[in-house]
Amino acid sequence: MPPYCPREWQWTRGLYERTARSRADREEREHVPMMRGTDRDYLLSEQYRTGLNLGIRRGFHERYSTNPKGEARWIFEQVSLPAHAKVLEVGCGDGSLWSQNVERIPPSWHLTLTDLSEGMLEEARQNLKNLPCAVVFRTADTQALAFPSHSFDGVIANYVLYHAPRLDAAISELSRILVPSGSLYTATHGSDYMVEMNGFTNILDPQIDSRRRSFELENGEQSLRRSFDRVERRLYEDSVEVGNPEAVVQYVASGVPSELVSEERLRALDREVRERMAQGGGRLRFSNSTGMFIASDPQGR
Ligand SMILES: C[S@@+](CC[C@H](N)C(=O)[O-])C[C@H]1O[C@@H](n2cnc3c(N)ncnc32)[C@H](O)[C@@H]1O
Repeated sequence: MPPYCPREWQWTRGLYERTARSRADREEREHVPMMRGTDRDYLLSEQYRTGLNLGIRRGFHERYSTNPKGEARWIFEQVSLPAHAKVLEVGCGDGSLWSQNVERIPPSWHLTLTDLSEGMLEEARQNLKNLPCAVVFRTADTQALAFPSHSFDGVIANYVLYHAPRLDAAISELSRILVPSGSLYTATHGSDYMVEMNGFTNILDPQIDSRRRSFELENGEQSLRRSFDRVERRLYEDSVEVGNPEAVVQYVASGVPSELVSEERLRALDREVRERMAQGGGRLRFSNSTGMFIASDPQGR
């Protein structure tokens, strides 16, 4: 058992073991890439190699978000498509949009779920064994899709466009594969999303990339307008309130390369979280700025 292991915290134990394994690699790597969010190697080999990190963050939001609706339920309600729609989701992750709305999916829809990571897609396959409609799974990079033009009535791209190093190429692909009457639904975060976490993240990762994401609620419209004539933005009101320090530590570590997570830094983070929580009367509050764009009239028509 590693020395730092509050309660029966299996996940920390896994992280500790991965950290120990990567210590030798760390010596060889001079620096961590600054634009980690668009670094394909990092995304595939670590952040989204499996559904673990995403699952930790989703669990955190499900447990501690103040809006009882739930993001995935809200997102699904924004999607308006015909009864026999062909629907593509890019960057589907572990398929939670569908698993959390399973009873609302029209049986006459035909779903195609894609992700860059085979590990994530495998999670989606396991989670979506009992969908009421036809579904196919494929690995695919959003920036270059192997589908003919005008293949889909609706495309969904949630929290994925900011991972594309070539954002314009990705959006142009999504426009090309839509039918002329089709729409793109793309959820993303605002620039102050969980901004109060930055100080904590900085303890594990002193090189934290604080630059703005390429596709946020504040700047996404201008990119979408290069490929779509109509763009609408809808906001989801939410915040996070948490009184469990371990959950915050776990959340922070899930977004940081394991090679940066030493036992010493984890302890320092744990101390800081507990101190700040005590100052806040036993709770910490975070902004959860989230919403979606609906883009229609694709110029690829
Ligand atoms: C933040 S997760 C979002 C997952 C899911 N859309 C959701 O809302 O839960 C980002 C997902 O995008 C995938 N991804 C990253 N870059 C991608 C790319 N260029 N093409 C397709 N998928 C990508 C990752 O593997 C990961 O599953």
